[in-house]
Order: sequence, then structure tokens, then C-alpha cells
Amino acid sequence: MPQSNLPTPASGCPFSGKTESLTRRYDRLSDENTDPAGLTQAQTYESVRQLLKDDEAPQAGFLAKFATDPTRGMHPPVLYMQGDEHTEMRRATARYFTPTAVNSYAPMIAGLCDEMLGELHSKGEMNLDDLSLRLAVEVAANVVGLNSSLLPGMEKRIEAFVSTGMDGAPGAVIKSSPLRNVSMGGSVALFFGLDVKPAIEARKKAPKDDLISYLLERKYSDQEILTECITYATAGMITTREFITLAAYQLLQRPELRADYVHGTEKERHAILHELLRLDPVVTMLYRKAEKDMEVEGQQYPAGTTFALNIQTANADPAVMGDDADEICPHRKLPRGVQAQGLAFGDGAHRCPGAFLAIKESDMFLRRLLMWNDLEIVRHPTIGSNEIVKGYELRGLRVRLSRQQNNQGAIA
Ligand code: HEM
Repeated sequence: MPQSNLPTPASGCPFSGKTESLTRRYDRLSDENTDPAGLTQAQTYESVRQLLKDDEAPQAGFLAKFATDPTRGMHPPVLYMQGDEHTEMRRATARYFTPTAVNSYAPMIAGLCDEMLGELHSKGEMNLDDLSLRLAVEVAANVVGLNSSLLPGMEKRIEAFVSTGMDGAPGAVIKSSPLRNVSMGGSVALFFGLDVKPAIEARKKAPKDDLISYLLERKYSDQEILTECITYATAGMITTREFITLAAYQLLQRPELRADYVHGTEKERHAILHELLRLDPVVTMLYRKAEKDMEVEGQQYPAGTTFALNIQTANADPAVMGDDADEICPHRKLPRGVQAQGLAFGDGAHRCPGAFLAIKESDMFLRRLLMWNDLEIVRHPTIGSNEIVKGYELRGLRVRLSRQQNNQGAIA
């Protein structure tokens, strides 16, 4: 196994106080991990990775059955595309996520972080999950081109339709009621009318280097652009928001880890964030459906089998992550080809394109926030779940900043 080049942190590794997952829903690899929907569950790192990398095991989660309905004759959103169409979409949009592109967003992200932290400073206390939502939405909106809104508050409009309690697992019963349908339809209609449609009109007049301009070039309809924006809102904005809140919560409770983080180089800080994400992957379960007979870890499965891929157990698989897989150790030695965040950003053709952006923006915000020594938790969050992305939801993490301490100014 390759040696890590990173120095051992002052606090040692694993960190004292046994920092462990805060959001684990599933036991470690166990025969008793039955999937709630009765699907075949892949739990080990190798089996999950194999299925994610198999092009003949397409997307089956995130309400795929509805998003890919061929009778609607629409381009499916990128998350559900397959084959050449998917490859072409990823190739064309990769330019929004390169390190050069992400670095070009840095001044915008820095400005936004400083503005939000200025607000926290003047108000004295705020909910961290409100700040993380604002940050994640504004940053991804920049990539998508969603910045011609008629009214402020896009983050609340997005939150409204993402938190409807729908279950994205294949075969899950979609509980609908007239009231809920009206509320969901109303939230999406507001998002379309106030945010998406104005962006489309602005890009038709003056195209920019963003996703909506590219989709217009490819003759996507308004409805198709709306569905792609909803995909980015769920896959990019909501996930990043939850991760930032989770990382802040872990770091605020671990003074040694926080000190290592704040005083570390960018590489060391990113290593800590990746390790936190490995332990608490935002998307805990992905789904794939086999289009052919498959062999996974020596077992045969017929075509048509739907797999639930357990990212939590895969990321804590001791065979790959080591015996201390359940604890935080940002400098753990990993086998070749295994990434520090495990499979938290997926793998294979659908691997998250926004991975680098997500870590960069999280780091820019968290470092500025956690440099304030007098920042303290006023209220611990409730930990719930979002069944569309099969992820955690941390709500109500309230932090206070002592007014005695001076604002330490902008950090590059
Ligand atoms: C911590 C934050 C994030 C996490 C944990 C995360 C996680 C994931 C995962 C697990 C997938 C794979 C889904 C699958 O294979 O079924 C994915 C895909 C995707 N993510 Fe992210 N993501 C994050 C941030 C972002 C950001 C910031 C963006 C864009 C601004 C983004 C855009 C996307 C898109 C467009 C896809 C679909 C890619 C495809 O299907 O080809 N994500 N993400």
C-alpha cells in the first residue's frame, strides 16, 4: 500500500475522543442489513464499486421510473442518461467543473462567505443550516446559470420541493394526496416562474458559459431545462448544504480536529473534509438495475435484479479502509485507486462532476467560520433524513459568535 505523504497531525490518528459517524443508519457489514424495500443489498466496498462502474446496470434511484418515462419523449436529466448521450453530456459540461473553472468561482465564493459571516457577526447568532443552504444554492446556481431570478429567496423555493418527503427508492410507494400534490406542484411552478424561466429568457438574449446556455444550444425545451435544474438542485445544492452543516457540527465538537483543520494547508484541510464525508456520506444509498445476468462477489443475479448500494457500509468496509474504518483518520493509508471519501461521490460514468467544487466551497466557508475561536454551538441540530436522496438532514444547528471578538477579516 502507498504511504501517505501527509504529516501525522498533532492530535494523533485516530483523533482522541473517537470521532465517529453522526448519521449512520445501517449497521456495519451484516447479514441483517435488510433493505427496507426488500431489494438485494450490496454492502462491501468492492461490490458497490463494481455495480457503479457497470454500464449495464443503469440508474434505478431518485424516482428514475418517472424521470425516464420514454412515453414523455423528453431528454432524460443527466443522472438518468445512458451510453453515448450521457458521455456526450458529461464531456460537454466537464468544463464547468475543472480545477481552473472552480478556481475562477473562488472570488465569488469568497465574497459570499464574507457577506454571510458578516451577517452572523452583526446578528450574533444564526442557524448554520440556513447559511450552508444559501452558499450551496448560490454556488451551484452560478454553474447552472440560475442567476436572473425575479425575486430573492431561490434557496427557500428549492428547499420547498426537495423536502416533500417523497421516497426515491425503486418500488417505494409514492404517497400522494391532493394537498401534497398541489404543494409540490406549486413549489416547482414558483421555481420555474421566478428562477428558471427568467434565466432561460436571459440566456436566449445573451448566452453565457453555463449549463442553461448549453442546453438551449442543444434545443432543450423549457420543461427539459426545468428537470435538469431540479436534478442539479437535488444532486448539487442539497447534498453540499448537508455536508457543510455536518462538517461544521463535527469540527465544532472536536477542538483538536478543528485546530488541525483551521491551521492545516489546503491539502490537509481537504483530507479532513474527505474523511468526514467518507464517514458520513450524504447520499447513503444508490440504486442500480441489472440489464443482464451478473456475478457480484461470486453470487449470480439474473437480469432485472434491482440492487440497493449501501454507501455507508461500503465506506466503512474494514477490508479496504482498515480496522479503524469507523473512526476519523484523515491520513489513513488507502489501497491504490481508493479515494479518501470512499464512494461518497459515487463512481463510474455517473460519478459526481461537482466533487471538487463541493469540497472547495465547503472549505472556503468552514475555514472562515471556524477561525473564530469564540464561535459556539447554541443548539444542537435534529438529525432527520431526506428520502429522495436517501441522505441525512441536519436542521436547527444554531451557532453564536461572541461580539467581543473582532472580525478577522477576509482570508484569501
Ligand atoms: C458534498 C456534496 C455532494 C455530494 C455528496 C454529491 C454526491 C453525488 C453522488 C453520490 C452522485 C452519483 C449518483 C449516482 O451515481 O447515482 C452525484 C452525481 C451528480 N452530482 Fe453530486 N454531490 C455533491 C455535490 C455536487 C455539486 C456541487 C454539483 C454541481 C454543482 C453536483 C452535481 C451532480 C450531478 C449533475 C450529478 C449527476 C452526474 C451524472 O449522472 O452523470 N454534485 N453526486
